[in-house]
Amino acid sequence: MKVTVVGAGNVGATCADVLAYREVANEVILVDIKEGLAEGKALDIWQKAPINLYDTRTVGATNDYTKTAGSDVVVITSGLPRKPGMSRDDLIQTNAGIVKSVTENVVRHSPDAIIIIVSNPLDVMTYQAHLVSKNDRTRVMGMAGILDTARYRAFLAEALDVSPKDIQAVLMGGHGDTMVPLPRYTTVGGIPVTELIDGDKLEAIINRTKTGGGELVKLMGTSAWYAPGSAAAQMVEAIVRDQRRVFPVCVQLNGEYGIDNCYLGAPVILGKNGIEKIIELDLNDEEKALLKISEGHVKEVMQVLDNMK
Ligand code: NAI
Ligand code: 2OP
Repeated sequence: MKVTVVGAGNVGATCADVLAYREVANEVILVDIKEGLAEGKALDIWQKAPINLYDTRTVGATNDYTKTAGSDVVVITSGLPRKPGMSRDDLIQTNAGIVKSVTENVVRHSPDAIIIIVSNPLDVMTYQAHLVSKNDRTRVMGMAGILDTARYRAFLAEALDVSPKDIQAVLMGGHGDTMVPLPRYTTVGGIPVTELIDGDKLEAIINRTKTGGGELVKLMGTSAWYAPGSAAAQMVEAIVRDQRRVFPVCVQLNGEYGIDNCYLGAPVILGKNGIEKIIELDLNDEEKALLKISEGHVKEVMQVLDNMK
């Protein structure tokens, strides 16, 4: 199996590192536009192999897509991250062009690759990659739900003083403040979370999750990378190993949840063909209303992209 990660910055390099040490692929190609950066990081990851005992070959390339030819999965992380005071949507002007040209190069050399977008604004960059690649919607998707759910699960584990391993949750909607955590579908070792935590505390955790990316930007002056890189690698692993894992993933909804042509997070089964199935939850009226708000917001930003053409 061959996996390419475009963008050798914080998220891309972390993703490549996780893919290598977990031996998810035989070969991981790291590409960046900045001269020498991808080669350097790929070499560093390769030199870690004798220490951490893995044999995945990691190869770097400066804007040379011939090295990526025949990739099974491609993760696109290239683009600006936000700085304090910026929203993810503020990145659209720059990142739309980057995602367009990168997707064109990826498709030229790996027409059968499944594409995972990480660049922000996530939902609309997934739309961009879908338009450019002309892939079936099951083969172009965005990473956000695993990250947002992980933040929610980590905050809950801390509040309840339990292992994060035992918290299962699902979250829907766009990757932004309108995301829709679903407490009704959150369990702790099989026990509904609402039986273990009072409503005010849960509400505070939900609000912290919605602004979880911004919290890190404020602390570090740039956005997060350990959890995002690992989340993207987890999606690659589910596909490459045909694990049929159930994850929230950004996908074009077309009819599901009564939504047409909008790129939103929804629970899916992820396997060798990409999105094997979109799972339709039986949302209640309140949850449906929150999803509608999120749809409205993402559609506004999709319109900004349409107007740029
Ligand atoms: P970074 O600045 O560390 O890395 C981005 C890399 O992209 C840089 O090395 C840059 O040289 C490269 N790049 C720019 N244009 C390129 C092109 N045309 N071809 C190839 N490489 C190019 O940024 P970081 O922190 O890695 O974030 C990357 C993107 O991921 C940002 O847009 C950020 O907002 C987004 N992000 C999304 C998350 C999500 O949940 N979906 C989570 C974290 C970050
Ligand atoms: C995050 O949520 C910035 O989207 C990125 O950390």
